Amino acid sequence: MPPLTEQAHVILRRAIRAGDTAIDATAGNGHDTTFLARQVGPTGAVFAFDVQPAALDRTRDRLDAEGLTNVTLLYRDHAEMSEVIPERHHGQVAAVMFNLGYLPGGDAIVTTRGDRTVTAITAALKLLRPQGVLTVIAYVGHAGGLDEAAAVERLLREQKRTEFTVQLPDTASATATSPRLFAVTKQ
Ligand SMILES: C[S@@+](CC[C@H](N)C(=O)[O-])C[C@H]1O[C@@H](n2cnc3c(N)ncnc32)[C@H](O)[C@@H]1O
Repeated sequence: MPPLTEQAHVILRRAIRAGDTAIDATAGNGHDTTFLARQVGPTGAVFAFDVQPAALDRTRDRLDAEGLTNVTLLYRDHAEMSEVIPERHHGQVAAVMFNLGYLPGGDAIVTTRGDRTVTAITAALKLLRPQGVLTVIAYVGHAGGLDEAAAVERLLREQKRTEFTVQLPDTASATATSPRLFAVTKQ
């Protein structure tokens, strides 16, 4: 099986068209932001959040290297997503990505946190347009990771089937320590 990041990209590619709006809730090293920026193209818009300046610098470098200018980098907590994303995009967002955990090659003390993640995903689900997709990759190896993954699963299981289709992690091929991919499509 390809890595979960690639699996998430495959799912998202189907939902994103040129000119769309997308959100990277955890910019990190900028791989996902760059992917989204390429998918939406020059007429689209990407908003990318991170709470670490180092992550936003790396993301900026990656975007600059590819000449991508359609991204707004936000030095903000993703739990503030509904206030930070301009109202004209509410209900219009094609894709939201969460790649949880800590910044690879950075400060492993700064990780996403279950309570903020749940607030952010709740906000993100409201921002999606019909047929918009949200993906979450959760890691269980770091402190709090297992609880965070469980909180994400609880939240997504609670969503109304009439409003969202939820794809839960593939437990058949997973071990207790494997990362977990969740994908949600708005009806
Ligand atoms: C696994 S990395 C993301 C990887 C990234 N998507 C990429 O393509 O390289 C997780 C990132 O989440 C960020 N983060 C942690 N808590 C956050 C929060 N409350 N809001 C936004 N970003 C947060 C961390 O600083 C870290 O850079």
